[in-house]
Amino acid sequence: MKNFSFITKNMKSFDLAKNYNNYKSVKQQGEALNISYIPPRFSFTITSKCNLRCPTCQYVLKDPKLFENSGFMRIDDYKSTLNKYKGYITNLTLTGGEATLHPELEKFIDFSLSLGLKVSLISNGILIRKKLSALKKLHDLNVTLDAYDFQSFARNRGGTAKQWDHIMEGLQTLRENQIKFTISFLTTRKNIDEIFHLIEFADEFQPTTLRLNSFNPHGKAKDLVLTKSDPHVIDVISEIMKRNDYSYNIKLPFVFDDRHPYFSNKICMYPWHGVYINENCDIAYCCQLPHDARIGNICDNYDFNSKNMLKWRKTLLNHKLPVDCKFCHRRFKGDYTKFITKKWKWKDNDPFK
Ligand SMILES: C[S@@+](CC[C@H](N)C(=O)[O-])C[C@H]1O[C@@H](n2cnc3c(N)ncnc32)[C@H](O)[C@@H]1O
Ligand code: SF4
Ligand code: SF4
Repeated sequence: MKNFSFITKNMKSFDLAKNYNNYKSVKQQGEALNISYIPPRFSFTITSKCNLRCPTCQYVLKDPKLFENSGFMRIDDYKSTLNKYKGYITNLTLTGGEATLHPELEKFIDFSLSLGLKVSLISNGILIRKKLSALKKLHDLNVTLDAYDFQSFARNRGGTAKQWDHIMEGLQTLRENQIKFTISFLTTRKNIDEIFHLIEFADEFQPTTLRLNSFNPHGKAKDLVLTKSDPHVIDVISEIMKRNDYSYNIKLPFVFDDRHPYFSNKICMYPWHGVYINENCDIAYCCQLPHDARIGNICDNYDFNSKNMLKWRKTLLNHKLPVDCKFCHRRFKGDYTKFITKKWKWKDNDPFK
């Protein structure tokens, strides 16, 4: 039985075409090769430039030169894409690289809002203060912190003391202006103990949610993956779950059990439910993989069933796990264990029990 909560959540809108499109998307995801709907989650990498070089970054791991060879998305390309698909979009995310580097960021947000769309943005937080007038209009601002002080910032993100100071000033400004934000942390086997410091940090800064994500090695630094066979990882998770007085939601990092049948069988929904576009309008299979004109180009009559996209979906449907997907926590979206403040309790969604 499929989980239809996604449809009902979006049924709040009385837009029949959008609801019917969502319905078809939920019915066909992870099942049909050819889809007969518009994937309702749009994610725009409005620039692939970045002011950091995190050693764990999915792009750094694959192509360290990507950031240098990138530009900025043209606002006209963004507008024409949204005008074409606005009737189907339920989730709209601006990301990068570092989206706040885009000199016209506010225009992107304003245009999206003028169409009645809610906008989310993922940022490393360095430019929060500089871009406050744009950021305060967002529906959701996720600051990928990966740190709790300068030393951990330098270790986990390779950043400078000045950049860390900017992030701290930015978070302080968000609080002073009562702008809601979430914080995320890319958890690895090496830095998992830092979560306890991060929790102290969150107690002080009060994000709405603490998102503890799992590192995807993309076939490289496999020793950093969180696995069930590591007793220390299990101890840390159990320790976090002992408390149930958190004043913010927590999404726990996904811990993989590669001996469990679900690990090999689980199909990732991202190539079905989303459209991932970069500054040149090129498409990616998902938010974890590089954009490539050979998959398609949204500004040039992109076919949601393009030859390469069909090939990728077929590989996933046949349970042939590509190296990038093996230890990708996105594949297990919905299976994350969470602390929910509204109920003051943990919702244990571990699929490997
Ligand atoms: C590529 S970043 C772009 C936005 C922004 N520069 C940032 O870091 O938040 C988007 C998200 O991907 C996550 N990410 C990057 N590399 C990853 C990896 N190897 N495994 C899992 N998530 C990763 C980041 O933590 C961030 O939450
Ligand atoms: S800030 Fe984001 S895009 Fe930039 S290097 Fe780090 S993870 Fe990659
Ligand atoms: S498992 Fe990860 S890398 Fe593979 S398609 Fe899904 S999101 Fe992309």
